[in-house]
Amino acid sequence: MSSDLSPIDKAKFVAAKRAAQFVEDGMRVGLGTGSTAAWLVRCLGEMVRDDGLKIRGVPTSSRTAQLARDVGIEVISLDEAKWLDITIDGADEFDGELNLIKGGGGALLQEKIVATASDQMIVIADIGKEVEHLGAFPLPIEVIPFGWQTTQALVEETLISMDVLGRSSTLRMNGDRPFHTDEGNYILDLHLNRIGNPRQLSLVVNQMPGVVENGLFIDICDTVVIGYGDGRVEVR
Ligand code: 5RP
Repeated sequence: MSSDLSPIDKAKFVAAKRAAQFVEDGMRVGLGTGSTAAWLVRCLGEMVRDDGLKIRGVPTSSRTAQLARDVGIEVISLDEAKWLDITIDGADEFDGELNLIKGGGGALLQEKIVATASDQMIVIADIGKEVEHLGAFPLPIEVIPFGWQTTQALVEETLISMDVLGRSSTLRMNGDRPFHTDEGNYILDLHLNRIGNPRQLSLVVNQMPGVVENGLFIDICDTVVIGYGDGRVEVR
């Protein structure tokens, strides 16, 4: 499967394949969203088909739900599962304390709900996602469409007093229309460059009316499985 992949895809694939080994028979598994998580879903699909692995998956987006069904994984809702044994998902950035920025694919809300409802969260990522300080990747914030420009102004104003380097934000677009999340909300991408205190920023942003959730995952990830372009894998 991995012979003709580019180094970046190989890194994602090997991380996903290694993380799939954490999944055991009978588990309820949170299935992440994005290109790395898609490798994981394909790997688990192979294990279901070829090895008789029995799992139930809770997808974090409509895209992942479709892929999971396509590869033969039984899909259930989070409310049916109630609690999950494990969630495996990608990330846009991770730091030395395994804090994350997620939401590059726009699925941060379901991803955070599912990861929080799991005994353990494993992040799968290529080595390029590792950073010393979070924030070079724009921080996604999910906001409700009503009054989104007012919410944006409030967010930007509040950032002035926070330990961040930048504070501009852009509405995520899908062509010439705003990008809609699976919940019908918008995404504001905050260009911060460097987040000094991710925990504080996350708490402050989530207190604002109109903000549904932000893409900072603090104290949620337990393990990161890192893939390299030459096929090496590291588990931290
Ligand atoms: C989607 C996410 C993804 O996990 C994140 O964007 C990483 O994606 P990829 O594996 O394609 O680099 O948070 O909302």
